[in-house]
Amino acid sequence: MTETPAPQGPNKRLFIKTYGCQMNVYDSERMADVLRPLGYGMTDQVEDADLVVLNTCHIREKAAEKVYSELGRIKVLRSAKAEAGGGRMGVVVAGCVAQAEGEEIMRRAPVVDLVVGPQAYHKLPELIARAARKTGERLAADFAPEDKFDALPAERKVEGFTAFLTVQEGCDKFCTFCVVPYTRGGEYSRPAEAILDEARGLADQGVREVTLLGQNVNAYAGEGGLAGLVRQLAKIEGLDRIRYTTSHPRDMDEALIAAHAEVEELMPYLHLPVQSGSDKVLRAMNRQHTAETYLKLVDRIRAVRPDLALSGDFIVGFPGESDKDFEATLDLIREVRYAAAFSFKYSRRPGTPASAMPGQVDEAVMDERLQRLQALLSEQQRAFNAGQTGKVLPVLFDKPGRHPGQILGRSPYLQAVHAEGPETLLGQIVPVRIESSAMNSLTGDLAVETPRSSRPRADSAKKELA
Ligand code: SAH
Ligand code: SF4
Ligand code: F3S
Repeated sequence: MTETPAPQGPNKRLFIKTYGCQMNVYDSERMADVLRPLGYGMTDQVEDADLVVLNTCHIREKAAEKVYSELGRIKVLRSAKAEAGGGRMGVVVAGCVAQAEGEEIMRRAPVVDLVVGPQAYHKLPELIARAARKTGERLAADFAPEDKFDALPAERKVEGFTAFLTVQEGCDKFCTFCVVPYTRGGEYSRPAEAILDEARGLADQGVREVTLLGQNVNAYAGEGGLAGLVRQLAKIEGLDRIRYTTSHPRDMDEALIAAHAEVEELMPYLHLPVQSGSDKVLRAMNRQHTAETYLKLVDRIRAVRPDLALSGDFIVGFPGESDKDFEATLDLIREVRYAAAFSFKYSRRPGTPASAMPGQVDEAVMDERLQRLQALLSEQQRAFNAGQTGKVLPVLFDKPGRHPGQILGRSPYLQAVHAEGPETLLGQIVPVRIESSAMNSLTGDLAVETPRSSRPRADSAKKELA
């Protein structure tokens, strides 16, 4: 309790480590925006940092435990820095673990100066100042996302050509295994105007692809729903690709499905978690849909957008899951054919209804099921990637490749694409002929000769005419 964060002043170094989902990535960027006016610039060297922020995830036990081991490491680095005359290192724990077990963090890890929940990080400057005077609260955790979004600086500083943009936060669904409704609070949708302003600011900085974020992004409740928002965003000059994640099957409405057919900027890729293919398990999970309604939904979306690639999340070993239930999940996967997927062993989370359910599944059984599930999903991912060879896909190049002369981008289906090409193509959407594929990437040739002086944004000229 005698420790305080670094005093205010210019040129301080901020190190942020981000765990968990894309929303935490967004939040970390916004924390940097909040701290920039206090003189904090980013460093990737934790040992030099004047302020270290761990932006944490509570979704599974392993994710949460990582925080404590990282704090142990930081304690050592902090002492070394102080002994070397490098000044003191402030330590902040933010994110979902902060929200869920703030008191426990402070008890278990005295190295921590401040604990800040996901809806309170806009208060960081005030909290840091008060902690320095030793008068302030050390734990800030409350649920008022509108206050946060109102208080965040309008200015965002981004690098690169793709960006995340939170449009919706929180969850009212209460799946019985999940901590998110407790760590992020209830569903909240940002006003469309604020989102459009933020998107215009991103486009002005050269961002060409935006991924709209929400724990239930398609429950976006602003006027016109998510479909209306997507259509407005598509009109922004320079924003040529729109994605959104994560969707809940229950909130996939007709308007959004229609947008997939009609809005050219909306990418043909959809993350639509199903968790299980067994109706018994889905019911116990409180997912509020069946395997059949999910499959019908997939059919409806594919009917309007046949090339749409699907990804999903799966949990094996939910309490009461039998071999037969697990087989039903494999059957559903065979029927859907996923382009990508994330799969997890069920993790018993404190305070969730499922943690108290009978029929908790043995670790060894979960291991075996996860292996079989992942083998099937990997096979599907390889097959999906292999199916792209010979095609010409528009690729947004956004990074230099690992080898000189190589550039790296993304296909409409979110696959990583490597090609030989000049770095002048970074930030452009270029046709690429796909030559070969692997589990995690495609390799292609620039299909069209690119003129020496590149043509930035020629492909968005249509918007000026529209
Ligand atoms: N809002 C999203 C996902 C949130 S968490 C949705 O509704 O789909 C991301 C994924 O983590 C979930 O889809 C689920 O597959 C997994 N997950 C969540 N809680 C879990 C738990 N207790 N054990 C294992 N996996 C879990
Ligand atoms: Fe968690 Fe379910 Fe909400 Fe997704 S919908 S965040 S899995 S409670
Ligand atoms: Fe993790 Fe919180 Fe995201 S628990 S998955 S960081 S919403």
